[in-house]
Amino acid sequence: MPPKRDRPQERMDSLLREERRFDPPPGFAAQANVRDPRVWAKAARDPDAFWAGWARRLDWIKPFRTVRKGSIGAARWFLGGRLNACANAVDRHLATPRRWKAALLWVGEDQRHRTITYQELRDETARLGNVLKGLGVRNGDRVAIYMGMVPELPVAVLACARIGAVHSVIFGGFSAASIRDRVNDMGAKVLICADGARRRGGVVDLKRAVDEALEGGACPGLESVLVFEHAGNPVAWKAGRDRSWRELMAGASAECPCEPMDSEDTLFLLYTSGSTGRPKGIRHATAGYLTATLATTNWVFDIKDQDLYWCTADLGWITGHSYLAYGPLLNGATCFLYESTPDYPDKGVLWSLVERWGVTVLYTAPTTIRACMQWGDAWVDRRTMPSLRLLGSVGEPINPEAWMWYRAHVGKGRCPVVDTWWQTETGAVMISPLPGLTPTKPGSATRPFPGTFPEVVDDEGRTLKEGAGYLVYRRPWPGMTRGIWNNPELYRRTYFSRFKGAYFSGDAARLDADGYFWLMGRVDDVVNVSGHRIGTMEVESALVDHPAVAEAAVIGRADPLKGQALAAFVILKSGKEAGPGLVGELREHVGKVIGPIAKPDDVVLASALPKTRSGKIMRRLLRDVAEGRPLGDVTTLADPEAVVRLEAEVRRLRADRRNA
Ligand code: WTA
Repeated sequence: MPPKRDRPQERMDSLLREERRFDPPPGFAAQANVRDPRVWAKAARDPDAFWAGWARRLDWIKPFRTVRKGSIGAARWFLGGRLNACANAVDRHLATPRRWKAALLWVGEDQRHRTITYQELRDETARLGNVLKGLGVRNGDRVAIYMGMVPELPVAVLACARIGAVHSVIFGGFSAASIRDRVNDMGAKVLICADGARRRGGVVDLKRAVDEALEGGACPGLESVLVFEHAGNPVAWKAGRDRSWRELMAGASAECPCEPMDSEDTLFLLYTSGSTGRPKGIRHATAGYLTATLATTNWVFDIKDQDLYWCTADLGWITGHSYLAYGPLLNGATCFLYESTPDYPDKGVLWSLVERWGVTVLYTAPTTIRACMQWGDAWVDRRTMPSLRLLGSVGEPINPEAWMWYRAHVGKGRCPVVDTWWQTETGAVMISPLPGLTPTKPGSATRPFPGTFPEVVDDEGRTLKEGAGYLVYRRPWPGMTRGIWNNPELYRRTYFSRFKGAYFSGDAARLDADGYFWLMGRVDDVVNVSGHRIGTMEVESALVDHPAVAEAAVIGRADPLKGQALAAFVILKSGKEAGPGLVGELREHVGKVIGPIAKPDDVVLASALPKTRSGKIMRRLLRDVAEGRPLGDVTTLADPEAVVRLEAEVRRLRADRRNA
């Protein structure tokens, strides 16, 4: 049983009433990597010197001369230097006692494991580097990666870095159309995929999605598909294009030098949803990104050589890049990887894995924590998990109840909880406790990482000392994205047009009297479903792509489990019948166009959408309707009757669901 003091005193309805505070446990504080409370003040006095100190902890082929040039939006870091990301994450450890230490400890769906030491990881990345070179990949070329959670996924990422190719991982849950768009946007020369991914006892046919994406010469720039044989599902084979990983690796040499890269050379692209429709290729530069992930992993996750560190994120997201691959490997940690989901083979698998393998640091998402709460305390309470010493959360705001549950049931009241706020664009953690120093408040990401300076501003961009507003940054940091691939204008418009001279994160936040940040979610048309950012415009265009649909509006409504859920309001083309299977068909269609994560939870076949007289859809009203709230101001509506009908349609949907 968790100690009594860790039980929530009462259910918290509003963050405003949250007054619980937890000091770092003295035992933890005494051994923490960062113990000096002056770190924030010191970094603030000279942020460039602070970051340069971290950068110097990397291995440089040629040291940098200039720490930074330019201001936010155009900043460049560590100029004149040359280095290699794979050399830093892998090769450098071979000269230390870490050489035969496990870099990766992977557990498959069948619960069998594999360990890959730093030496083996070097050899594998070298072999794959040579295979890629053999396929014509050169420094600066793009390589798309579409695999499940297998050790070969980080191997593929690091092999690209090794030879100076730009990697771009496409999440294994995305559909053929999403693969096609991304491959074409990045101009990938090679796509690395697995035959299939194991999922809850079955196999997801990844190769088939790739074949479908490339059908009919849809990706003219792509020369080869390298197929890693993992799940053993039968796959079609296109001679001349498809190549076997196992075959090519068997003949590849393990001598492959790490390419000296410029600090500002692109390390990777990662596509993310923004408020402007199509996914954007967020570009990260080598030295700045490595510096930021090295520093934050060391201080926020307090990584030590003895740690077995587990970040449950998929490598298809930024969290997987920064805190499952680069950050922990730069720190020489052992990274734990699990092939399957938190409910397979049973709903206690997270805890049995932690206990069985001795995981020490666990980093997961609020949506997973809430799902575990719903599955019942017994799954976790039967495990003591004595190895655990630190817990992290990321991806969306964590509600105080979930935070308290995480601390009490998973951490048994003895592990600090770090709620970390950041984004694909920021590259690394930006707002988070330092676990040995920062008193935590459940539901707050607490304070900025040293050397970063978030501000909360009002509508006019005035900085607030306290209160709620928009979260912006005016001062640069090295992990910041260098822009959107091939689209500088979209970059400027998306992030730098709302507030002059500032990067706008798209999030709302409240700053309390102690200077603590409370993240309040997105303010743009991006919905955070189970920690995945989904642009509502993308879902709308997928719906309108269906032959029966004339118009669609998609919004996020509150959902107890997923944080937010997608609700779609759909107008059919005249003459199209709403047959019994249509709603299911529309959901499937979105799954096919974007991927299953984007399937709307509610599809309301509406007779009209609430619009202003100038024709803009009033999403605020749709949110009210979807959440069953009384309607806000309707005076600007062109046709007030439309929402009344909509409310009735939503009530009908709810009743149907209750009866189902
Ligand atoms: C949200 C994931 C509150 C936020 C690393 C942000 C959070 C978006 C938190 C980025 C947190 C992430 N508290 N909200 N601790 N972490 N978010 O790019 O809305 O996939 O803008 O990066 O997730 O999502 P992304």
